[in-house]
Amino acid sequence: MSAYTVKKTPGDTAWFTHDRFGMFIHFGLYSLPARHEWVRTREEISEQDYRKYFDHFNPDLLDAGAWAKSAREAGMKYVVLTTKHHEGFCLFDSQYTDYKVTNTPYGKDIVREVVDAFRAEGLRIGFYYSLIDWHHPDFTVDTIHPDRNRPEKVAENKKKDPRRYAQYMRDQVTELLTNYGDIDILWFDFSYPGGKTRYQYLPELHGMGKGKDDWEAEELIATVRRLRPGIIINDRTEIEQDLVTPEQVQVTQWPTHPVTGEKVIWEACQTFSGSWGYHREETSWKSPEVLLRLLIQSVAHGGNLLMNVGPTARGIFDSRAEKALGVYRDWMKLNSRSIYGCTMADPAFSAPEGTLITQSADESRLYLHLLQYPYKTLILPGLAGKIAYAQFLHDASEIRYQEEAPSAYHNLTDSIGEKPVFLSIPEHQPDILIPVIEIFLK
Ligand code: GLC
Repeated sequence: MSAYTVKKTPGDTAWFTHDRFGMFIHFGLYSLPARHEWVRTREEISEQDYRKYFDHFNPDLLDAGAWAKSAREAGMKYVVLTTKHHEGFCLFDSQYTDYKVTNTPYGKDIVREVVDAFRAEGLRIGFYYSLIDWHHPDFTVDTIHPDRNRPEKVAENKKKDPRRYAQYMRDQVTELLTNYGDIDILWFDFSYPGGKTRYQYLPELHGMGKGKDDWEAEELIATVRRLRPGIIINDRTEIEQDLVTPEQVQVTQWPTHPVTGEKVIWEACQTFSGSWGYHREETSWKSPEVLLRLLIQSVAHGGNLLMNVGPTARGIFDSRAEKALGVYRDWMKLNSRSIYGCTMADPAFSAPEGTLITQSADESRLYLHLLQYPYKTLILPGLAGKIAYAQFLHDASEIRYQEEAPSAYHNLTDSIGEKPVFLSIPEHQPDILIPVIEIFLK
């Protein structure tokens, strides 16, 4: 749903641009070292040394129903789960590898558990699938590979057949799209042509990255579309599909297509604390205000937010993650009307300083998010004659307004803008982290 024309894409995106808010889940062997999901390559851990995490993978407290309930209560409408991350470990019972969850002490197919539980809570299902695979025998060592400084491993590149790896991806994606019912999103990650990196690597690897030709991306996408024509596919195979995915950035303008200039469908992905996988010692947890702003700001620029949780190796959201989800839960319970089915407001309504505006896609309502609580009067230029009613969203209490400047403003009219409306705001902020004013337009 959108009041704007966006670039047409092959997938069914109507539900997606309505729902706006999803949960990303990064879970894998890296949850055990608990120091970033790239730990294997950051620390150049060998395959053998990484094996201990496979042998000890046993999230005994995992209750996918509890994850799903937290997501639903936080107002999230879909989930994107890492079925396989760069380490190559599969959270599903694939017939094409032994490096999978059903061969660990845990023994059960986590993808199945998550799909069933989230569906039962009414959420849509997305699969993250890593194009990068540091475990697969035909995946060549390149500049970001954990073996990039091991000459004997680099020498093995000659014997590898990348086409077999591309076939493996098609086979696995086929499993994922046939064994778990209707899947709504496929989230590939990621291409790095040229292999630019901060890492040190053996000189013969220079320039070695991977991109669409390595993934045989055309065929991969064709395979997906044959199985699920309307699925939403992201842009990280290097082939444009339905979704643009800015990562850990705060988007300040609706992204447009580089050639046609049309607005595109987009989803920001963000973390609570910088790492995607569970990170025990990370201290950069975002404040409640920032968490809410990330969501509101995405919608105010026509996009979605995919907010990540990295469960602990015992399979639960730790107290910091629970607290962060609680921020969304408390706010969304009363304010979700400014998010679902909303988009960027008509540019004719400029947001006053310290606010972000969204608008319902049928254009009948504006939602003014008060990031900095204004003192008593809020001036909205351009709205005179257009408002039918205004209220706080959280308690539906009336917000009175007038179109004539209150006496205190008489000498300031020059700085106020055209056709202003003066909203009369209570002196003290209601007990809502970011209060929202709902404006019914005539
Ligand atoms: C990055 C990282 C990865 C994470 C992803 C999420 O591309 O490689 O660890 O899964 O972002 O967007």
